[in-house]
Amino acid sequence: MADPEHLAWRDLAVAVARAGAERIRARAGAADLRVDTKSTETDPVTEVDREVEAMVVESLLAARPDDGVVGEEGADRAGTSGVRWLVDPIDGTVNFLYGIPGCNVSVAAEAGGQVVAAAVVDPLHGDVFAAARGHGATRNGHALRATSASDPARSLVGTGFGYDPERRRRQAEVLVRVLPQVRDVRRLGAAAVDLCWVACGRLDGYYETGLQAWDWAAGGLVAEEAGARVGTVGDVPLPDGLPGACIVAAAPDLFDPLRALVAAAGAAEV
Ligand code: IPD
Repeated sequence: MADPEHLAWRDLAVAVARAGAERIRARAGAADLRVDTKSTETDPVTEVDREVEAMVVESLLAARPDDGVVGEEGADRAGTSGVRWLVDPIDGTVNFLYGIPGCNVSVAAEAGGQVVAAAVVDPLHGDVFAAARGHGATRNGHALRATSASDPARSLVGTGFGYDPERRRRQAEVLVRVLPQVRDVRRLGAAAVDLCWVACGRLDGYYETGLQAWDWAAGGLVAEEAGARVGTVGDVPLPDGLPGACIVAAAPDLFDPLRALVAAAGAAEV
């Protein structure tokens, strides 16, 4: 149901994500980035991930001091208002390290167990994606519509891989089974942008196993509000902190066949 409050939260998400994205634009690909690793040796974090998270959290709490916030780089505040913000300060950190477009700030507001407002700002592509539940989705102010694709063999499909080497080996095996059955596959390196590209028709569909809530929350709402379907293999609940489910987002008539295809390829078992 359309709630006017969601529009205000969407606008706040856009404002804070834009400010963070300016920092990304200024530092993407810089030779002097300080880089640490997180879950595995291939999982990078830079000082800019931490700076942008601090900026975004500070601005959100300045505007809405009673809200909760969870961020990829450690922000974790319970709040009392019933509204929780999910923040990925740099989704696509590897893209950011190399100066490749697609690195983005992803901010979503959740209330009543649902994501209700979202912004994904991808400064190197010049894209500001925004959505509020019941009010549609936009890119740079223009309304979005997912494609009318229905046949996987004529569909361009995005996917991604986490950082765990063993899981990556299994994901590669799934990809070997998926690739011959679709038009082609794109690996953009940023889950939030993959989902927004389903929304704006640059992809027909997308699947990935092992995302965290901050990876899928904002982009997932943008996709849904553009008419795409977003769900999981096996209809398990979308992950909130415990990665495991295989998320599928696709043009409405493609969703069931694509989900069946990636399920048969073993995407949920990786
Ligand atoms: C990653 C990116 C990548 C996806 C990974 C995510 P991060 O997010 O979205 O495309 O395949 O699963 O972890 O680590 O750059 O914020």
